[in-house]
Amino acid sequence: MDKLVSLCKRRGFVFQSSEIYGGLSGSWDYGFLGVELKQNIKKIWWDAMTRWEEDIVGIDASILMNPRTWEASGHVESFTDPMIDDKVSKMRYRADHLIENYILTLKKKGKENEANKVGELFQAALRSGDMLRLLYDIIVSERIKSPDSGSYDWTEVRQFNLMFETKLGAVLSEASQLYLRPETAQGIFVNFHNVRESNRLKIPFGIAQIGKAFRNEIVKGNFIFRQIEFEQMEMQYFVKPGLQRSSFEEWREKRFKWYVEKLGIKGENLLWYEHEKLAHYADAAFDIKFKFPFGDEEIEGIHSRTDFDLRRHEEYSGKNMHYTDPQTAESFIPFVIETSAGCDRLVLATLCDAYNEDKVDGETRVVLRFNPHVAPIKVAILPLVKKDVLPEIAKSLKNDLKRNWVVQYDESGSIGRRYRRQDEIGTPICVTIDNQTVHDQTVTLRHRDTMNQKRISISGVEDLNSNKKVE
Ligand code: GAP
Repeated sequence: MDKLVSLCKRRGFVFQSSEIYGGLSGSWDYGFLGVELKQNIKKIWWDAMTRWEEDIVGIDASILMNPRTWEASGHVESFTDPMIDDKVSKMRYRADHLIENYILTLKKKGKENEANKVGELFQAALRSGDMLRLLYDIIVSERIKSPDSGSYDWTEVRQFNLMFETKLGAVLSEASQLYLRPETAQGIFVNFHNVRESNRLKIPFGIAQIGKAFRNEIVKGNFIFRQIEFEQMEMQYFVKPGLQRSSFEEWREKRFKWYVEKLGIKGENLLWYEHEKLAHYADAAFDIKFKFPFGDEEIEGIHSRTDFDLRRHEEYSGKNMHYTDPQTAESFIPFVIETSAGCDRLVLATLCDAYNEDKVDGETRVVLRFNPHVAPIKVAILPLVKKDVLPEIAKSLKNDLKRNWVVQYDESGSIGRRYRRQDEIGTPICVTIDNQTVHDQTVTLRHRDTMNQKRISISGVEDLNSNKKVE
């Protein structure tokens, strides 16, 4: 991971947010290559979900919503994590994570029996109505130390709401409490009828959205994996009650295929995880996990959300959220299948999946083997030397290609070093202009993965361009 993080900074994929002030934990900025990579991922998702699906349309809802939305969705009451403070260092921890880490440490020390005993207590605590009290009891009776101060001086465990709060209004005393949305999904639910009516949609149909979400995460970290501000790519698919299970299975299959066939992630790096403990709104839930260097972690959740959200919005807004079948005149609240991916997590998964270190002539070649559709730069144009008419020809080719592709021009350093620079950022093709180009209008095409080179006519590069194919 360290190597990847340093590559990301050095080559301008990702920077620490407000770094000159010491940064802000859980918050990151994307540089030029990072933005291109992220936009490509979003486009591949957006096309698959809206353009190639007959019955899904897009929306872009606002981040700030009427606060009643979050009462209806259950977030005000239950979007919480159990939290405990170390009184000495004033650091805050997730109580359940502290216990999980403690169990792991016991196991590493070979104390299996003790680990199992604490594990059982822990499971009982998670199931219990008085979970907070029991979590606290485990931390105190097991004498779990604070990782920061090493002390045992804890506050009580309490529920901590993960929603960021803000205020609306010029007069503070009259200002009303708003929240930065913790998921994009609610912007879709509250617009159910607007979208359906304006697009004349019949059930089943879906609404897709890409947008920012915010969570006051207690535990941040693993680079861009867990952030306080991140982007989600969510789709809610509305179906007739009773048909949710088959739709759920269909979406599970489609989403897994998308990662392999469209995003180009290796199938062996992905796995399914079935939730046993379901969220308050769900009747089935699976995660797609990616094998990150720091462990197998969730990149997308696929949830069968029942009619919970629309029913609650009907109750809280007083507006009818039913759908009437035009053929049968049957009226019902639709059930929802949700696919919810974290865009930043897909950026990280794509980077980890693509990262390779090859040995070439006894030296290490770092190469990002991105799927060409995902690669931030599609073609690099390199004049062999910085003299004669070579730069001129190279710049003219670059100007032609840039209409359709993100192209990079590089004339500094040896050609070998320039190839390596492009390998390191995952550019699938380098085109080299040399003296022979002046005589016979041919160029060298060099492939990132094989490093094979072949000569083609300069107009052949244009053909690759018009075919929009980089192979
Ligand atoms: N609407 C359902 C929902 O929000 P979730 O499992 O809480 O479900 C969905 O989040 C996805 O959003 C996750 O699979 C993950 O990819 C991404 N995500 C959640 N919290 C995140 C965070 N703090 N930082 C980055 N991505 C996050």
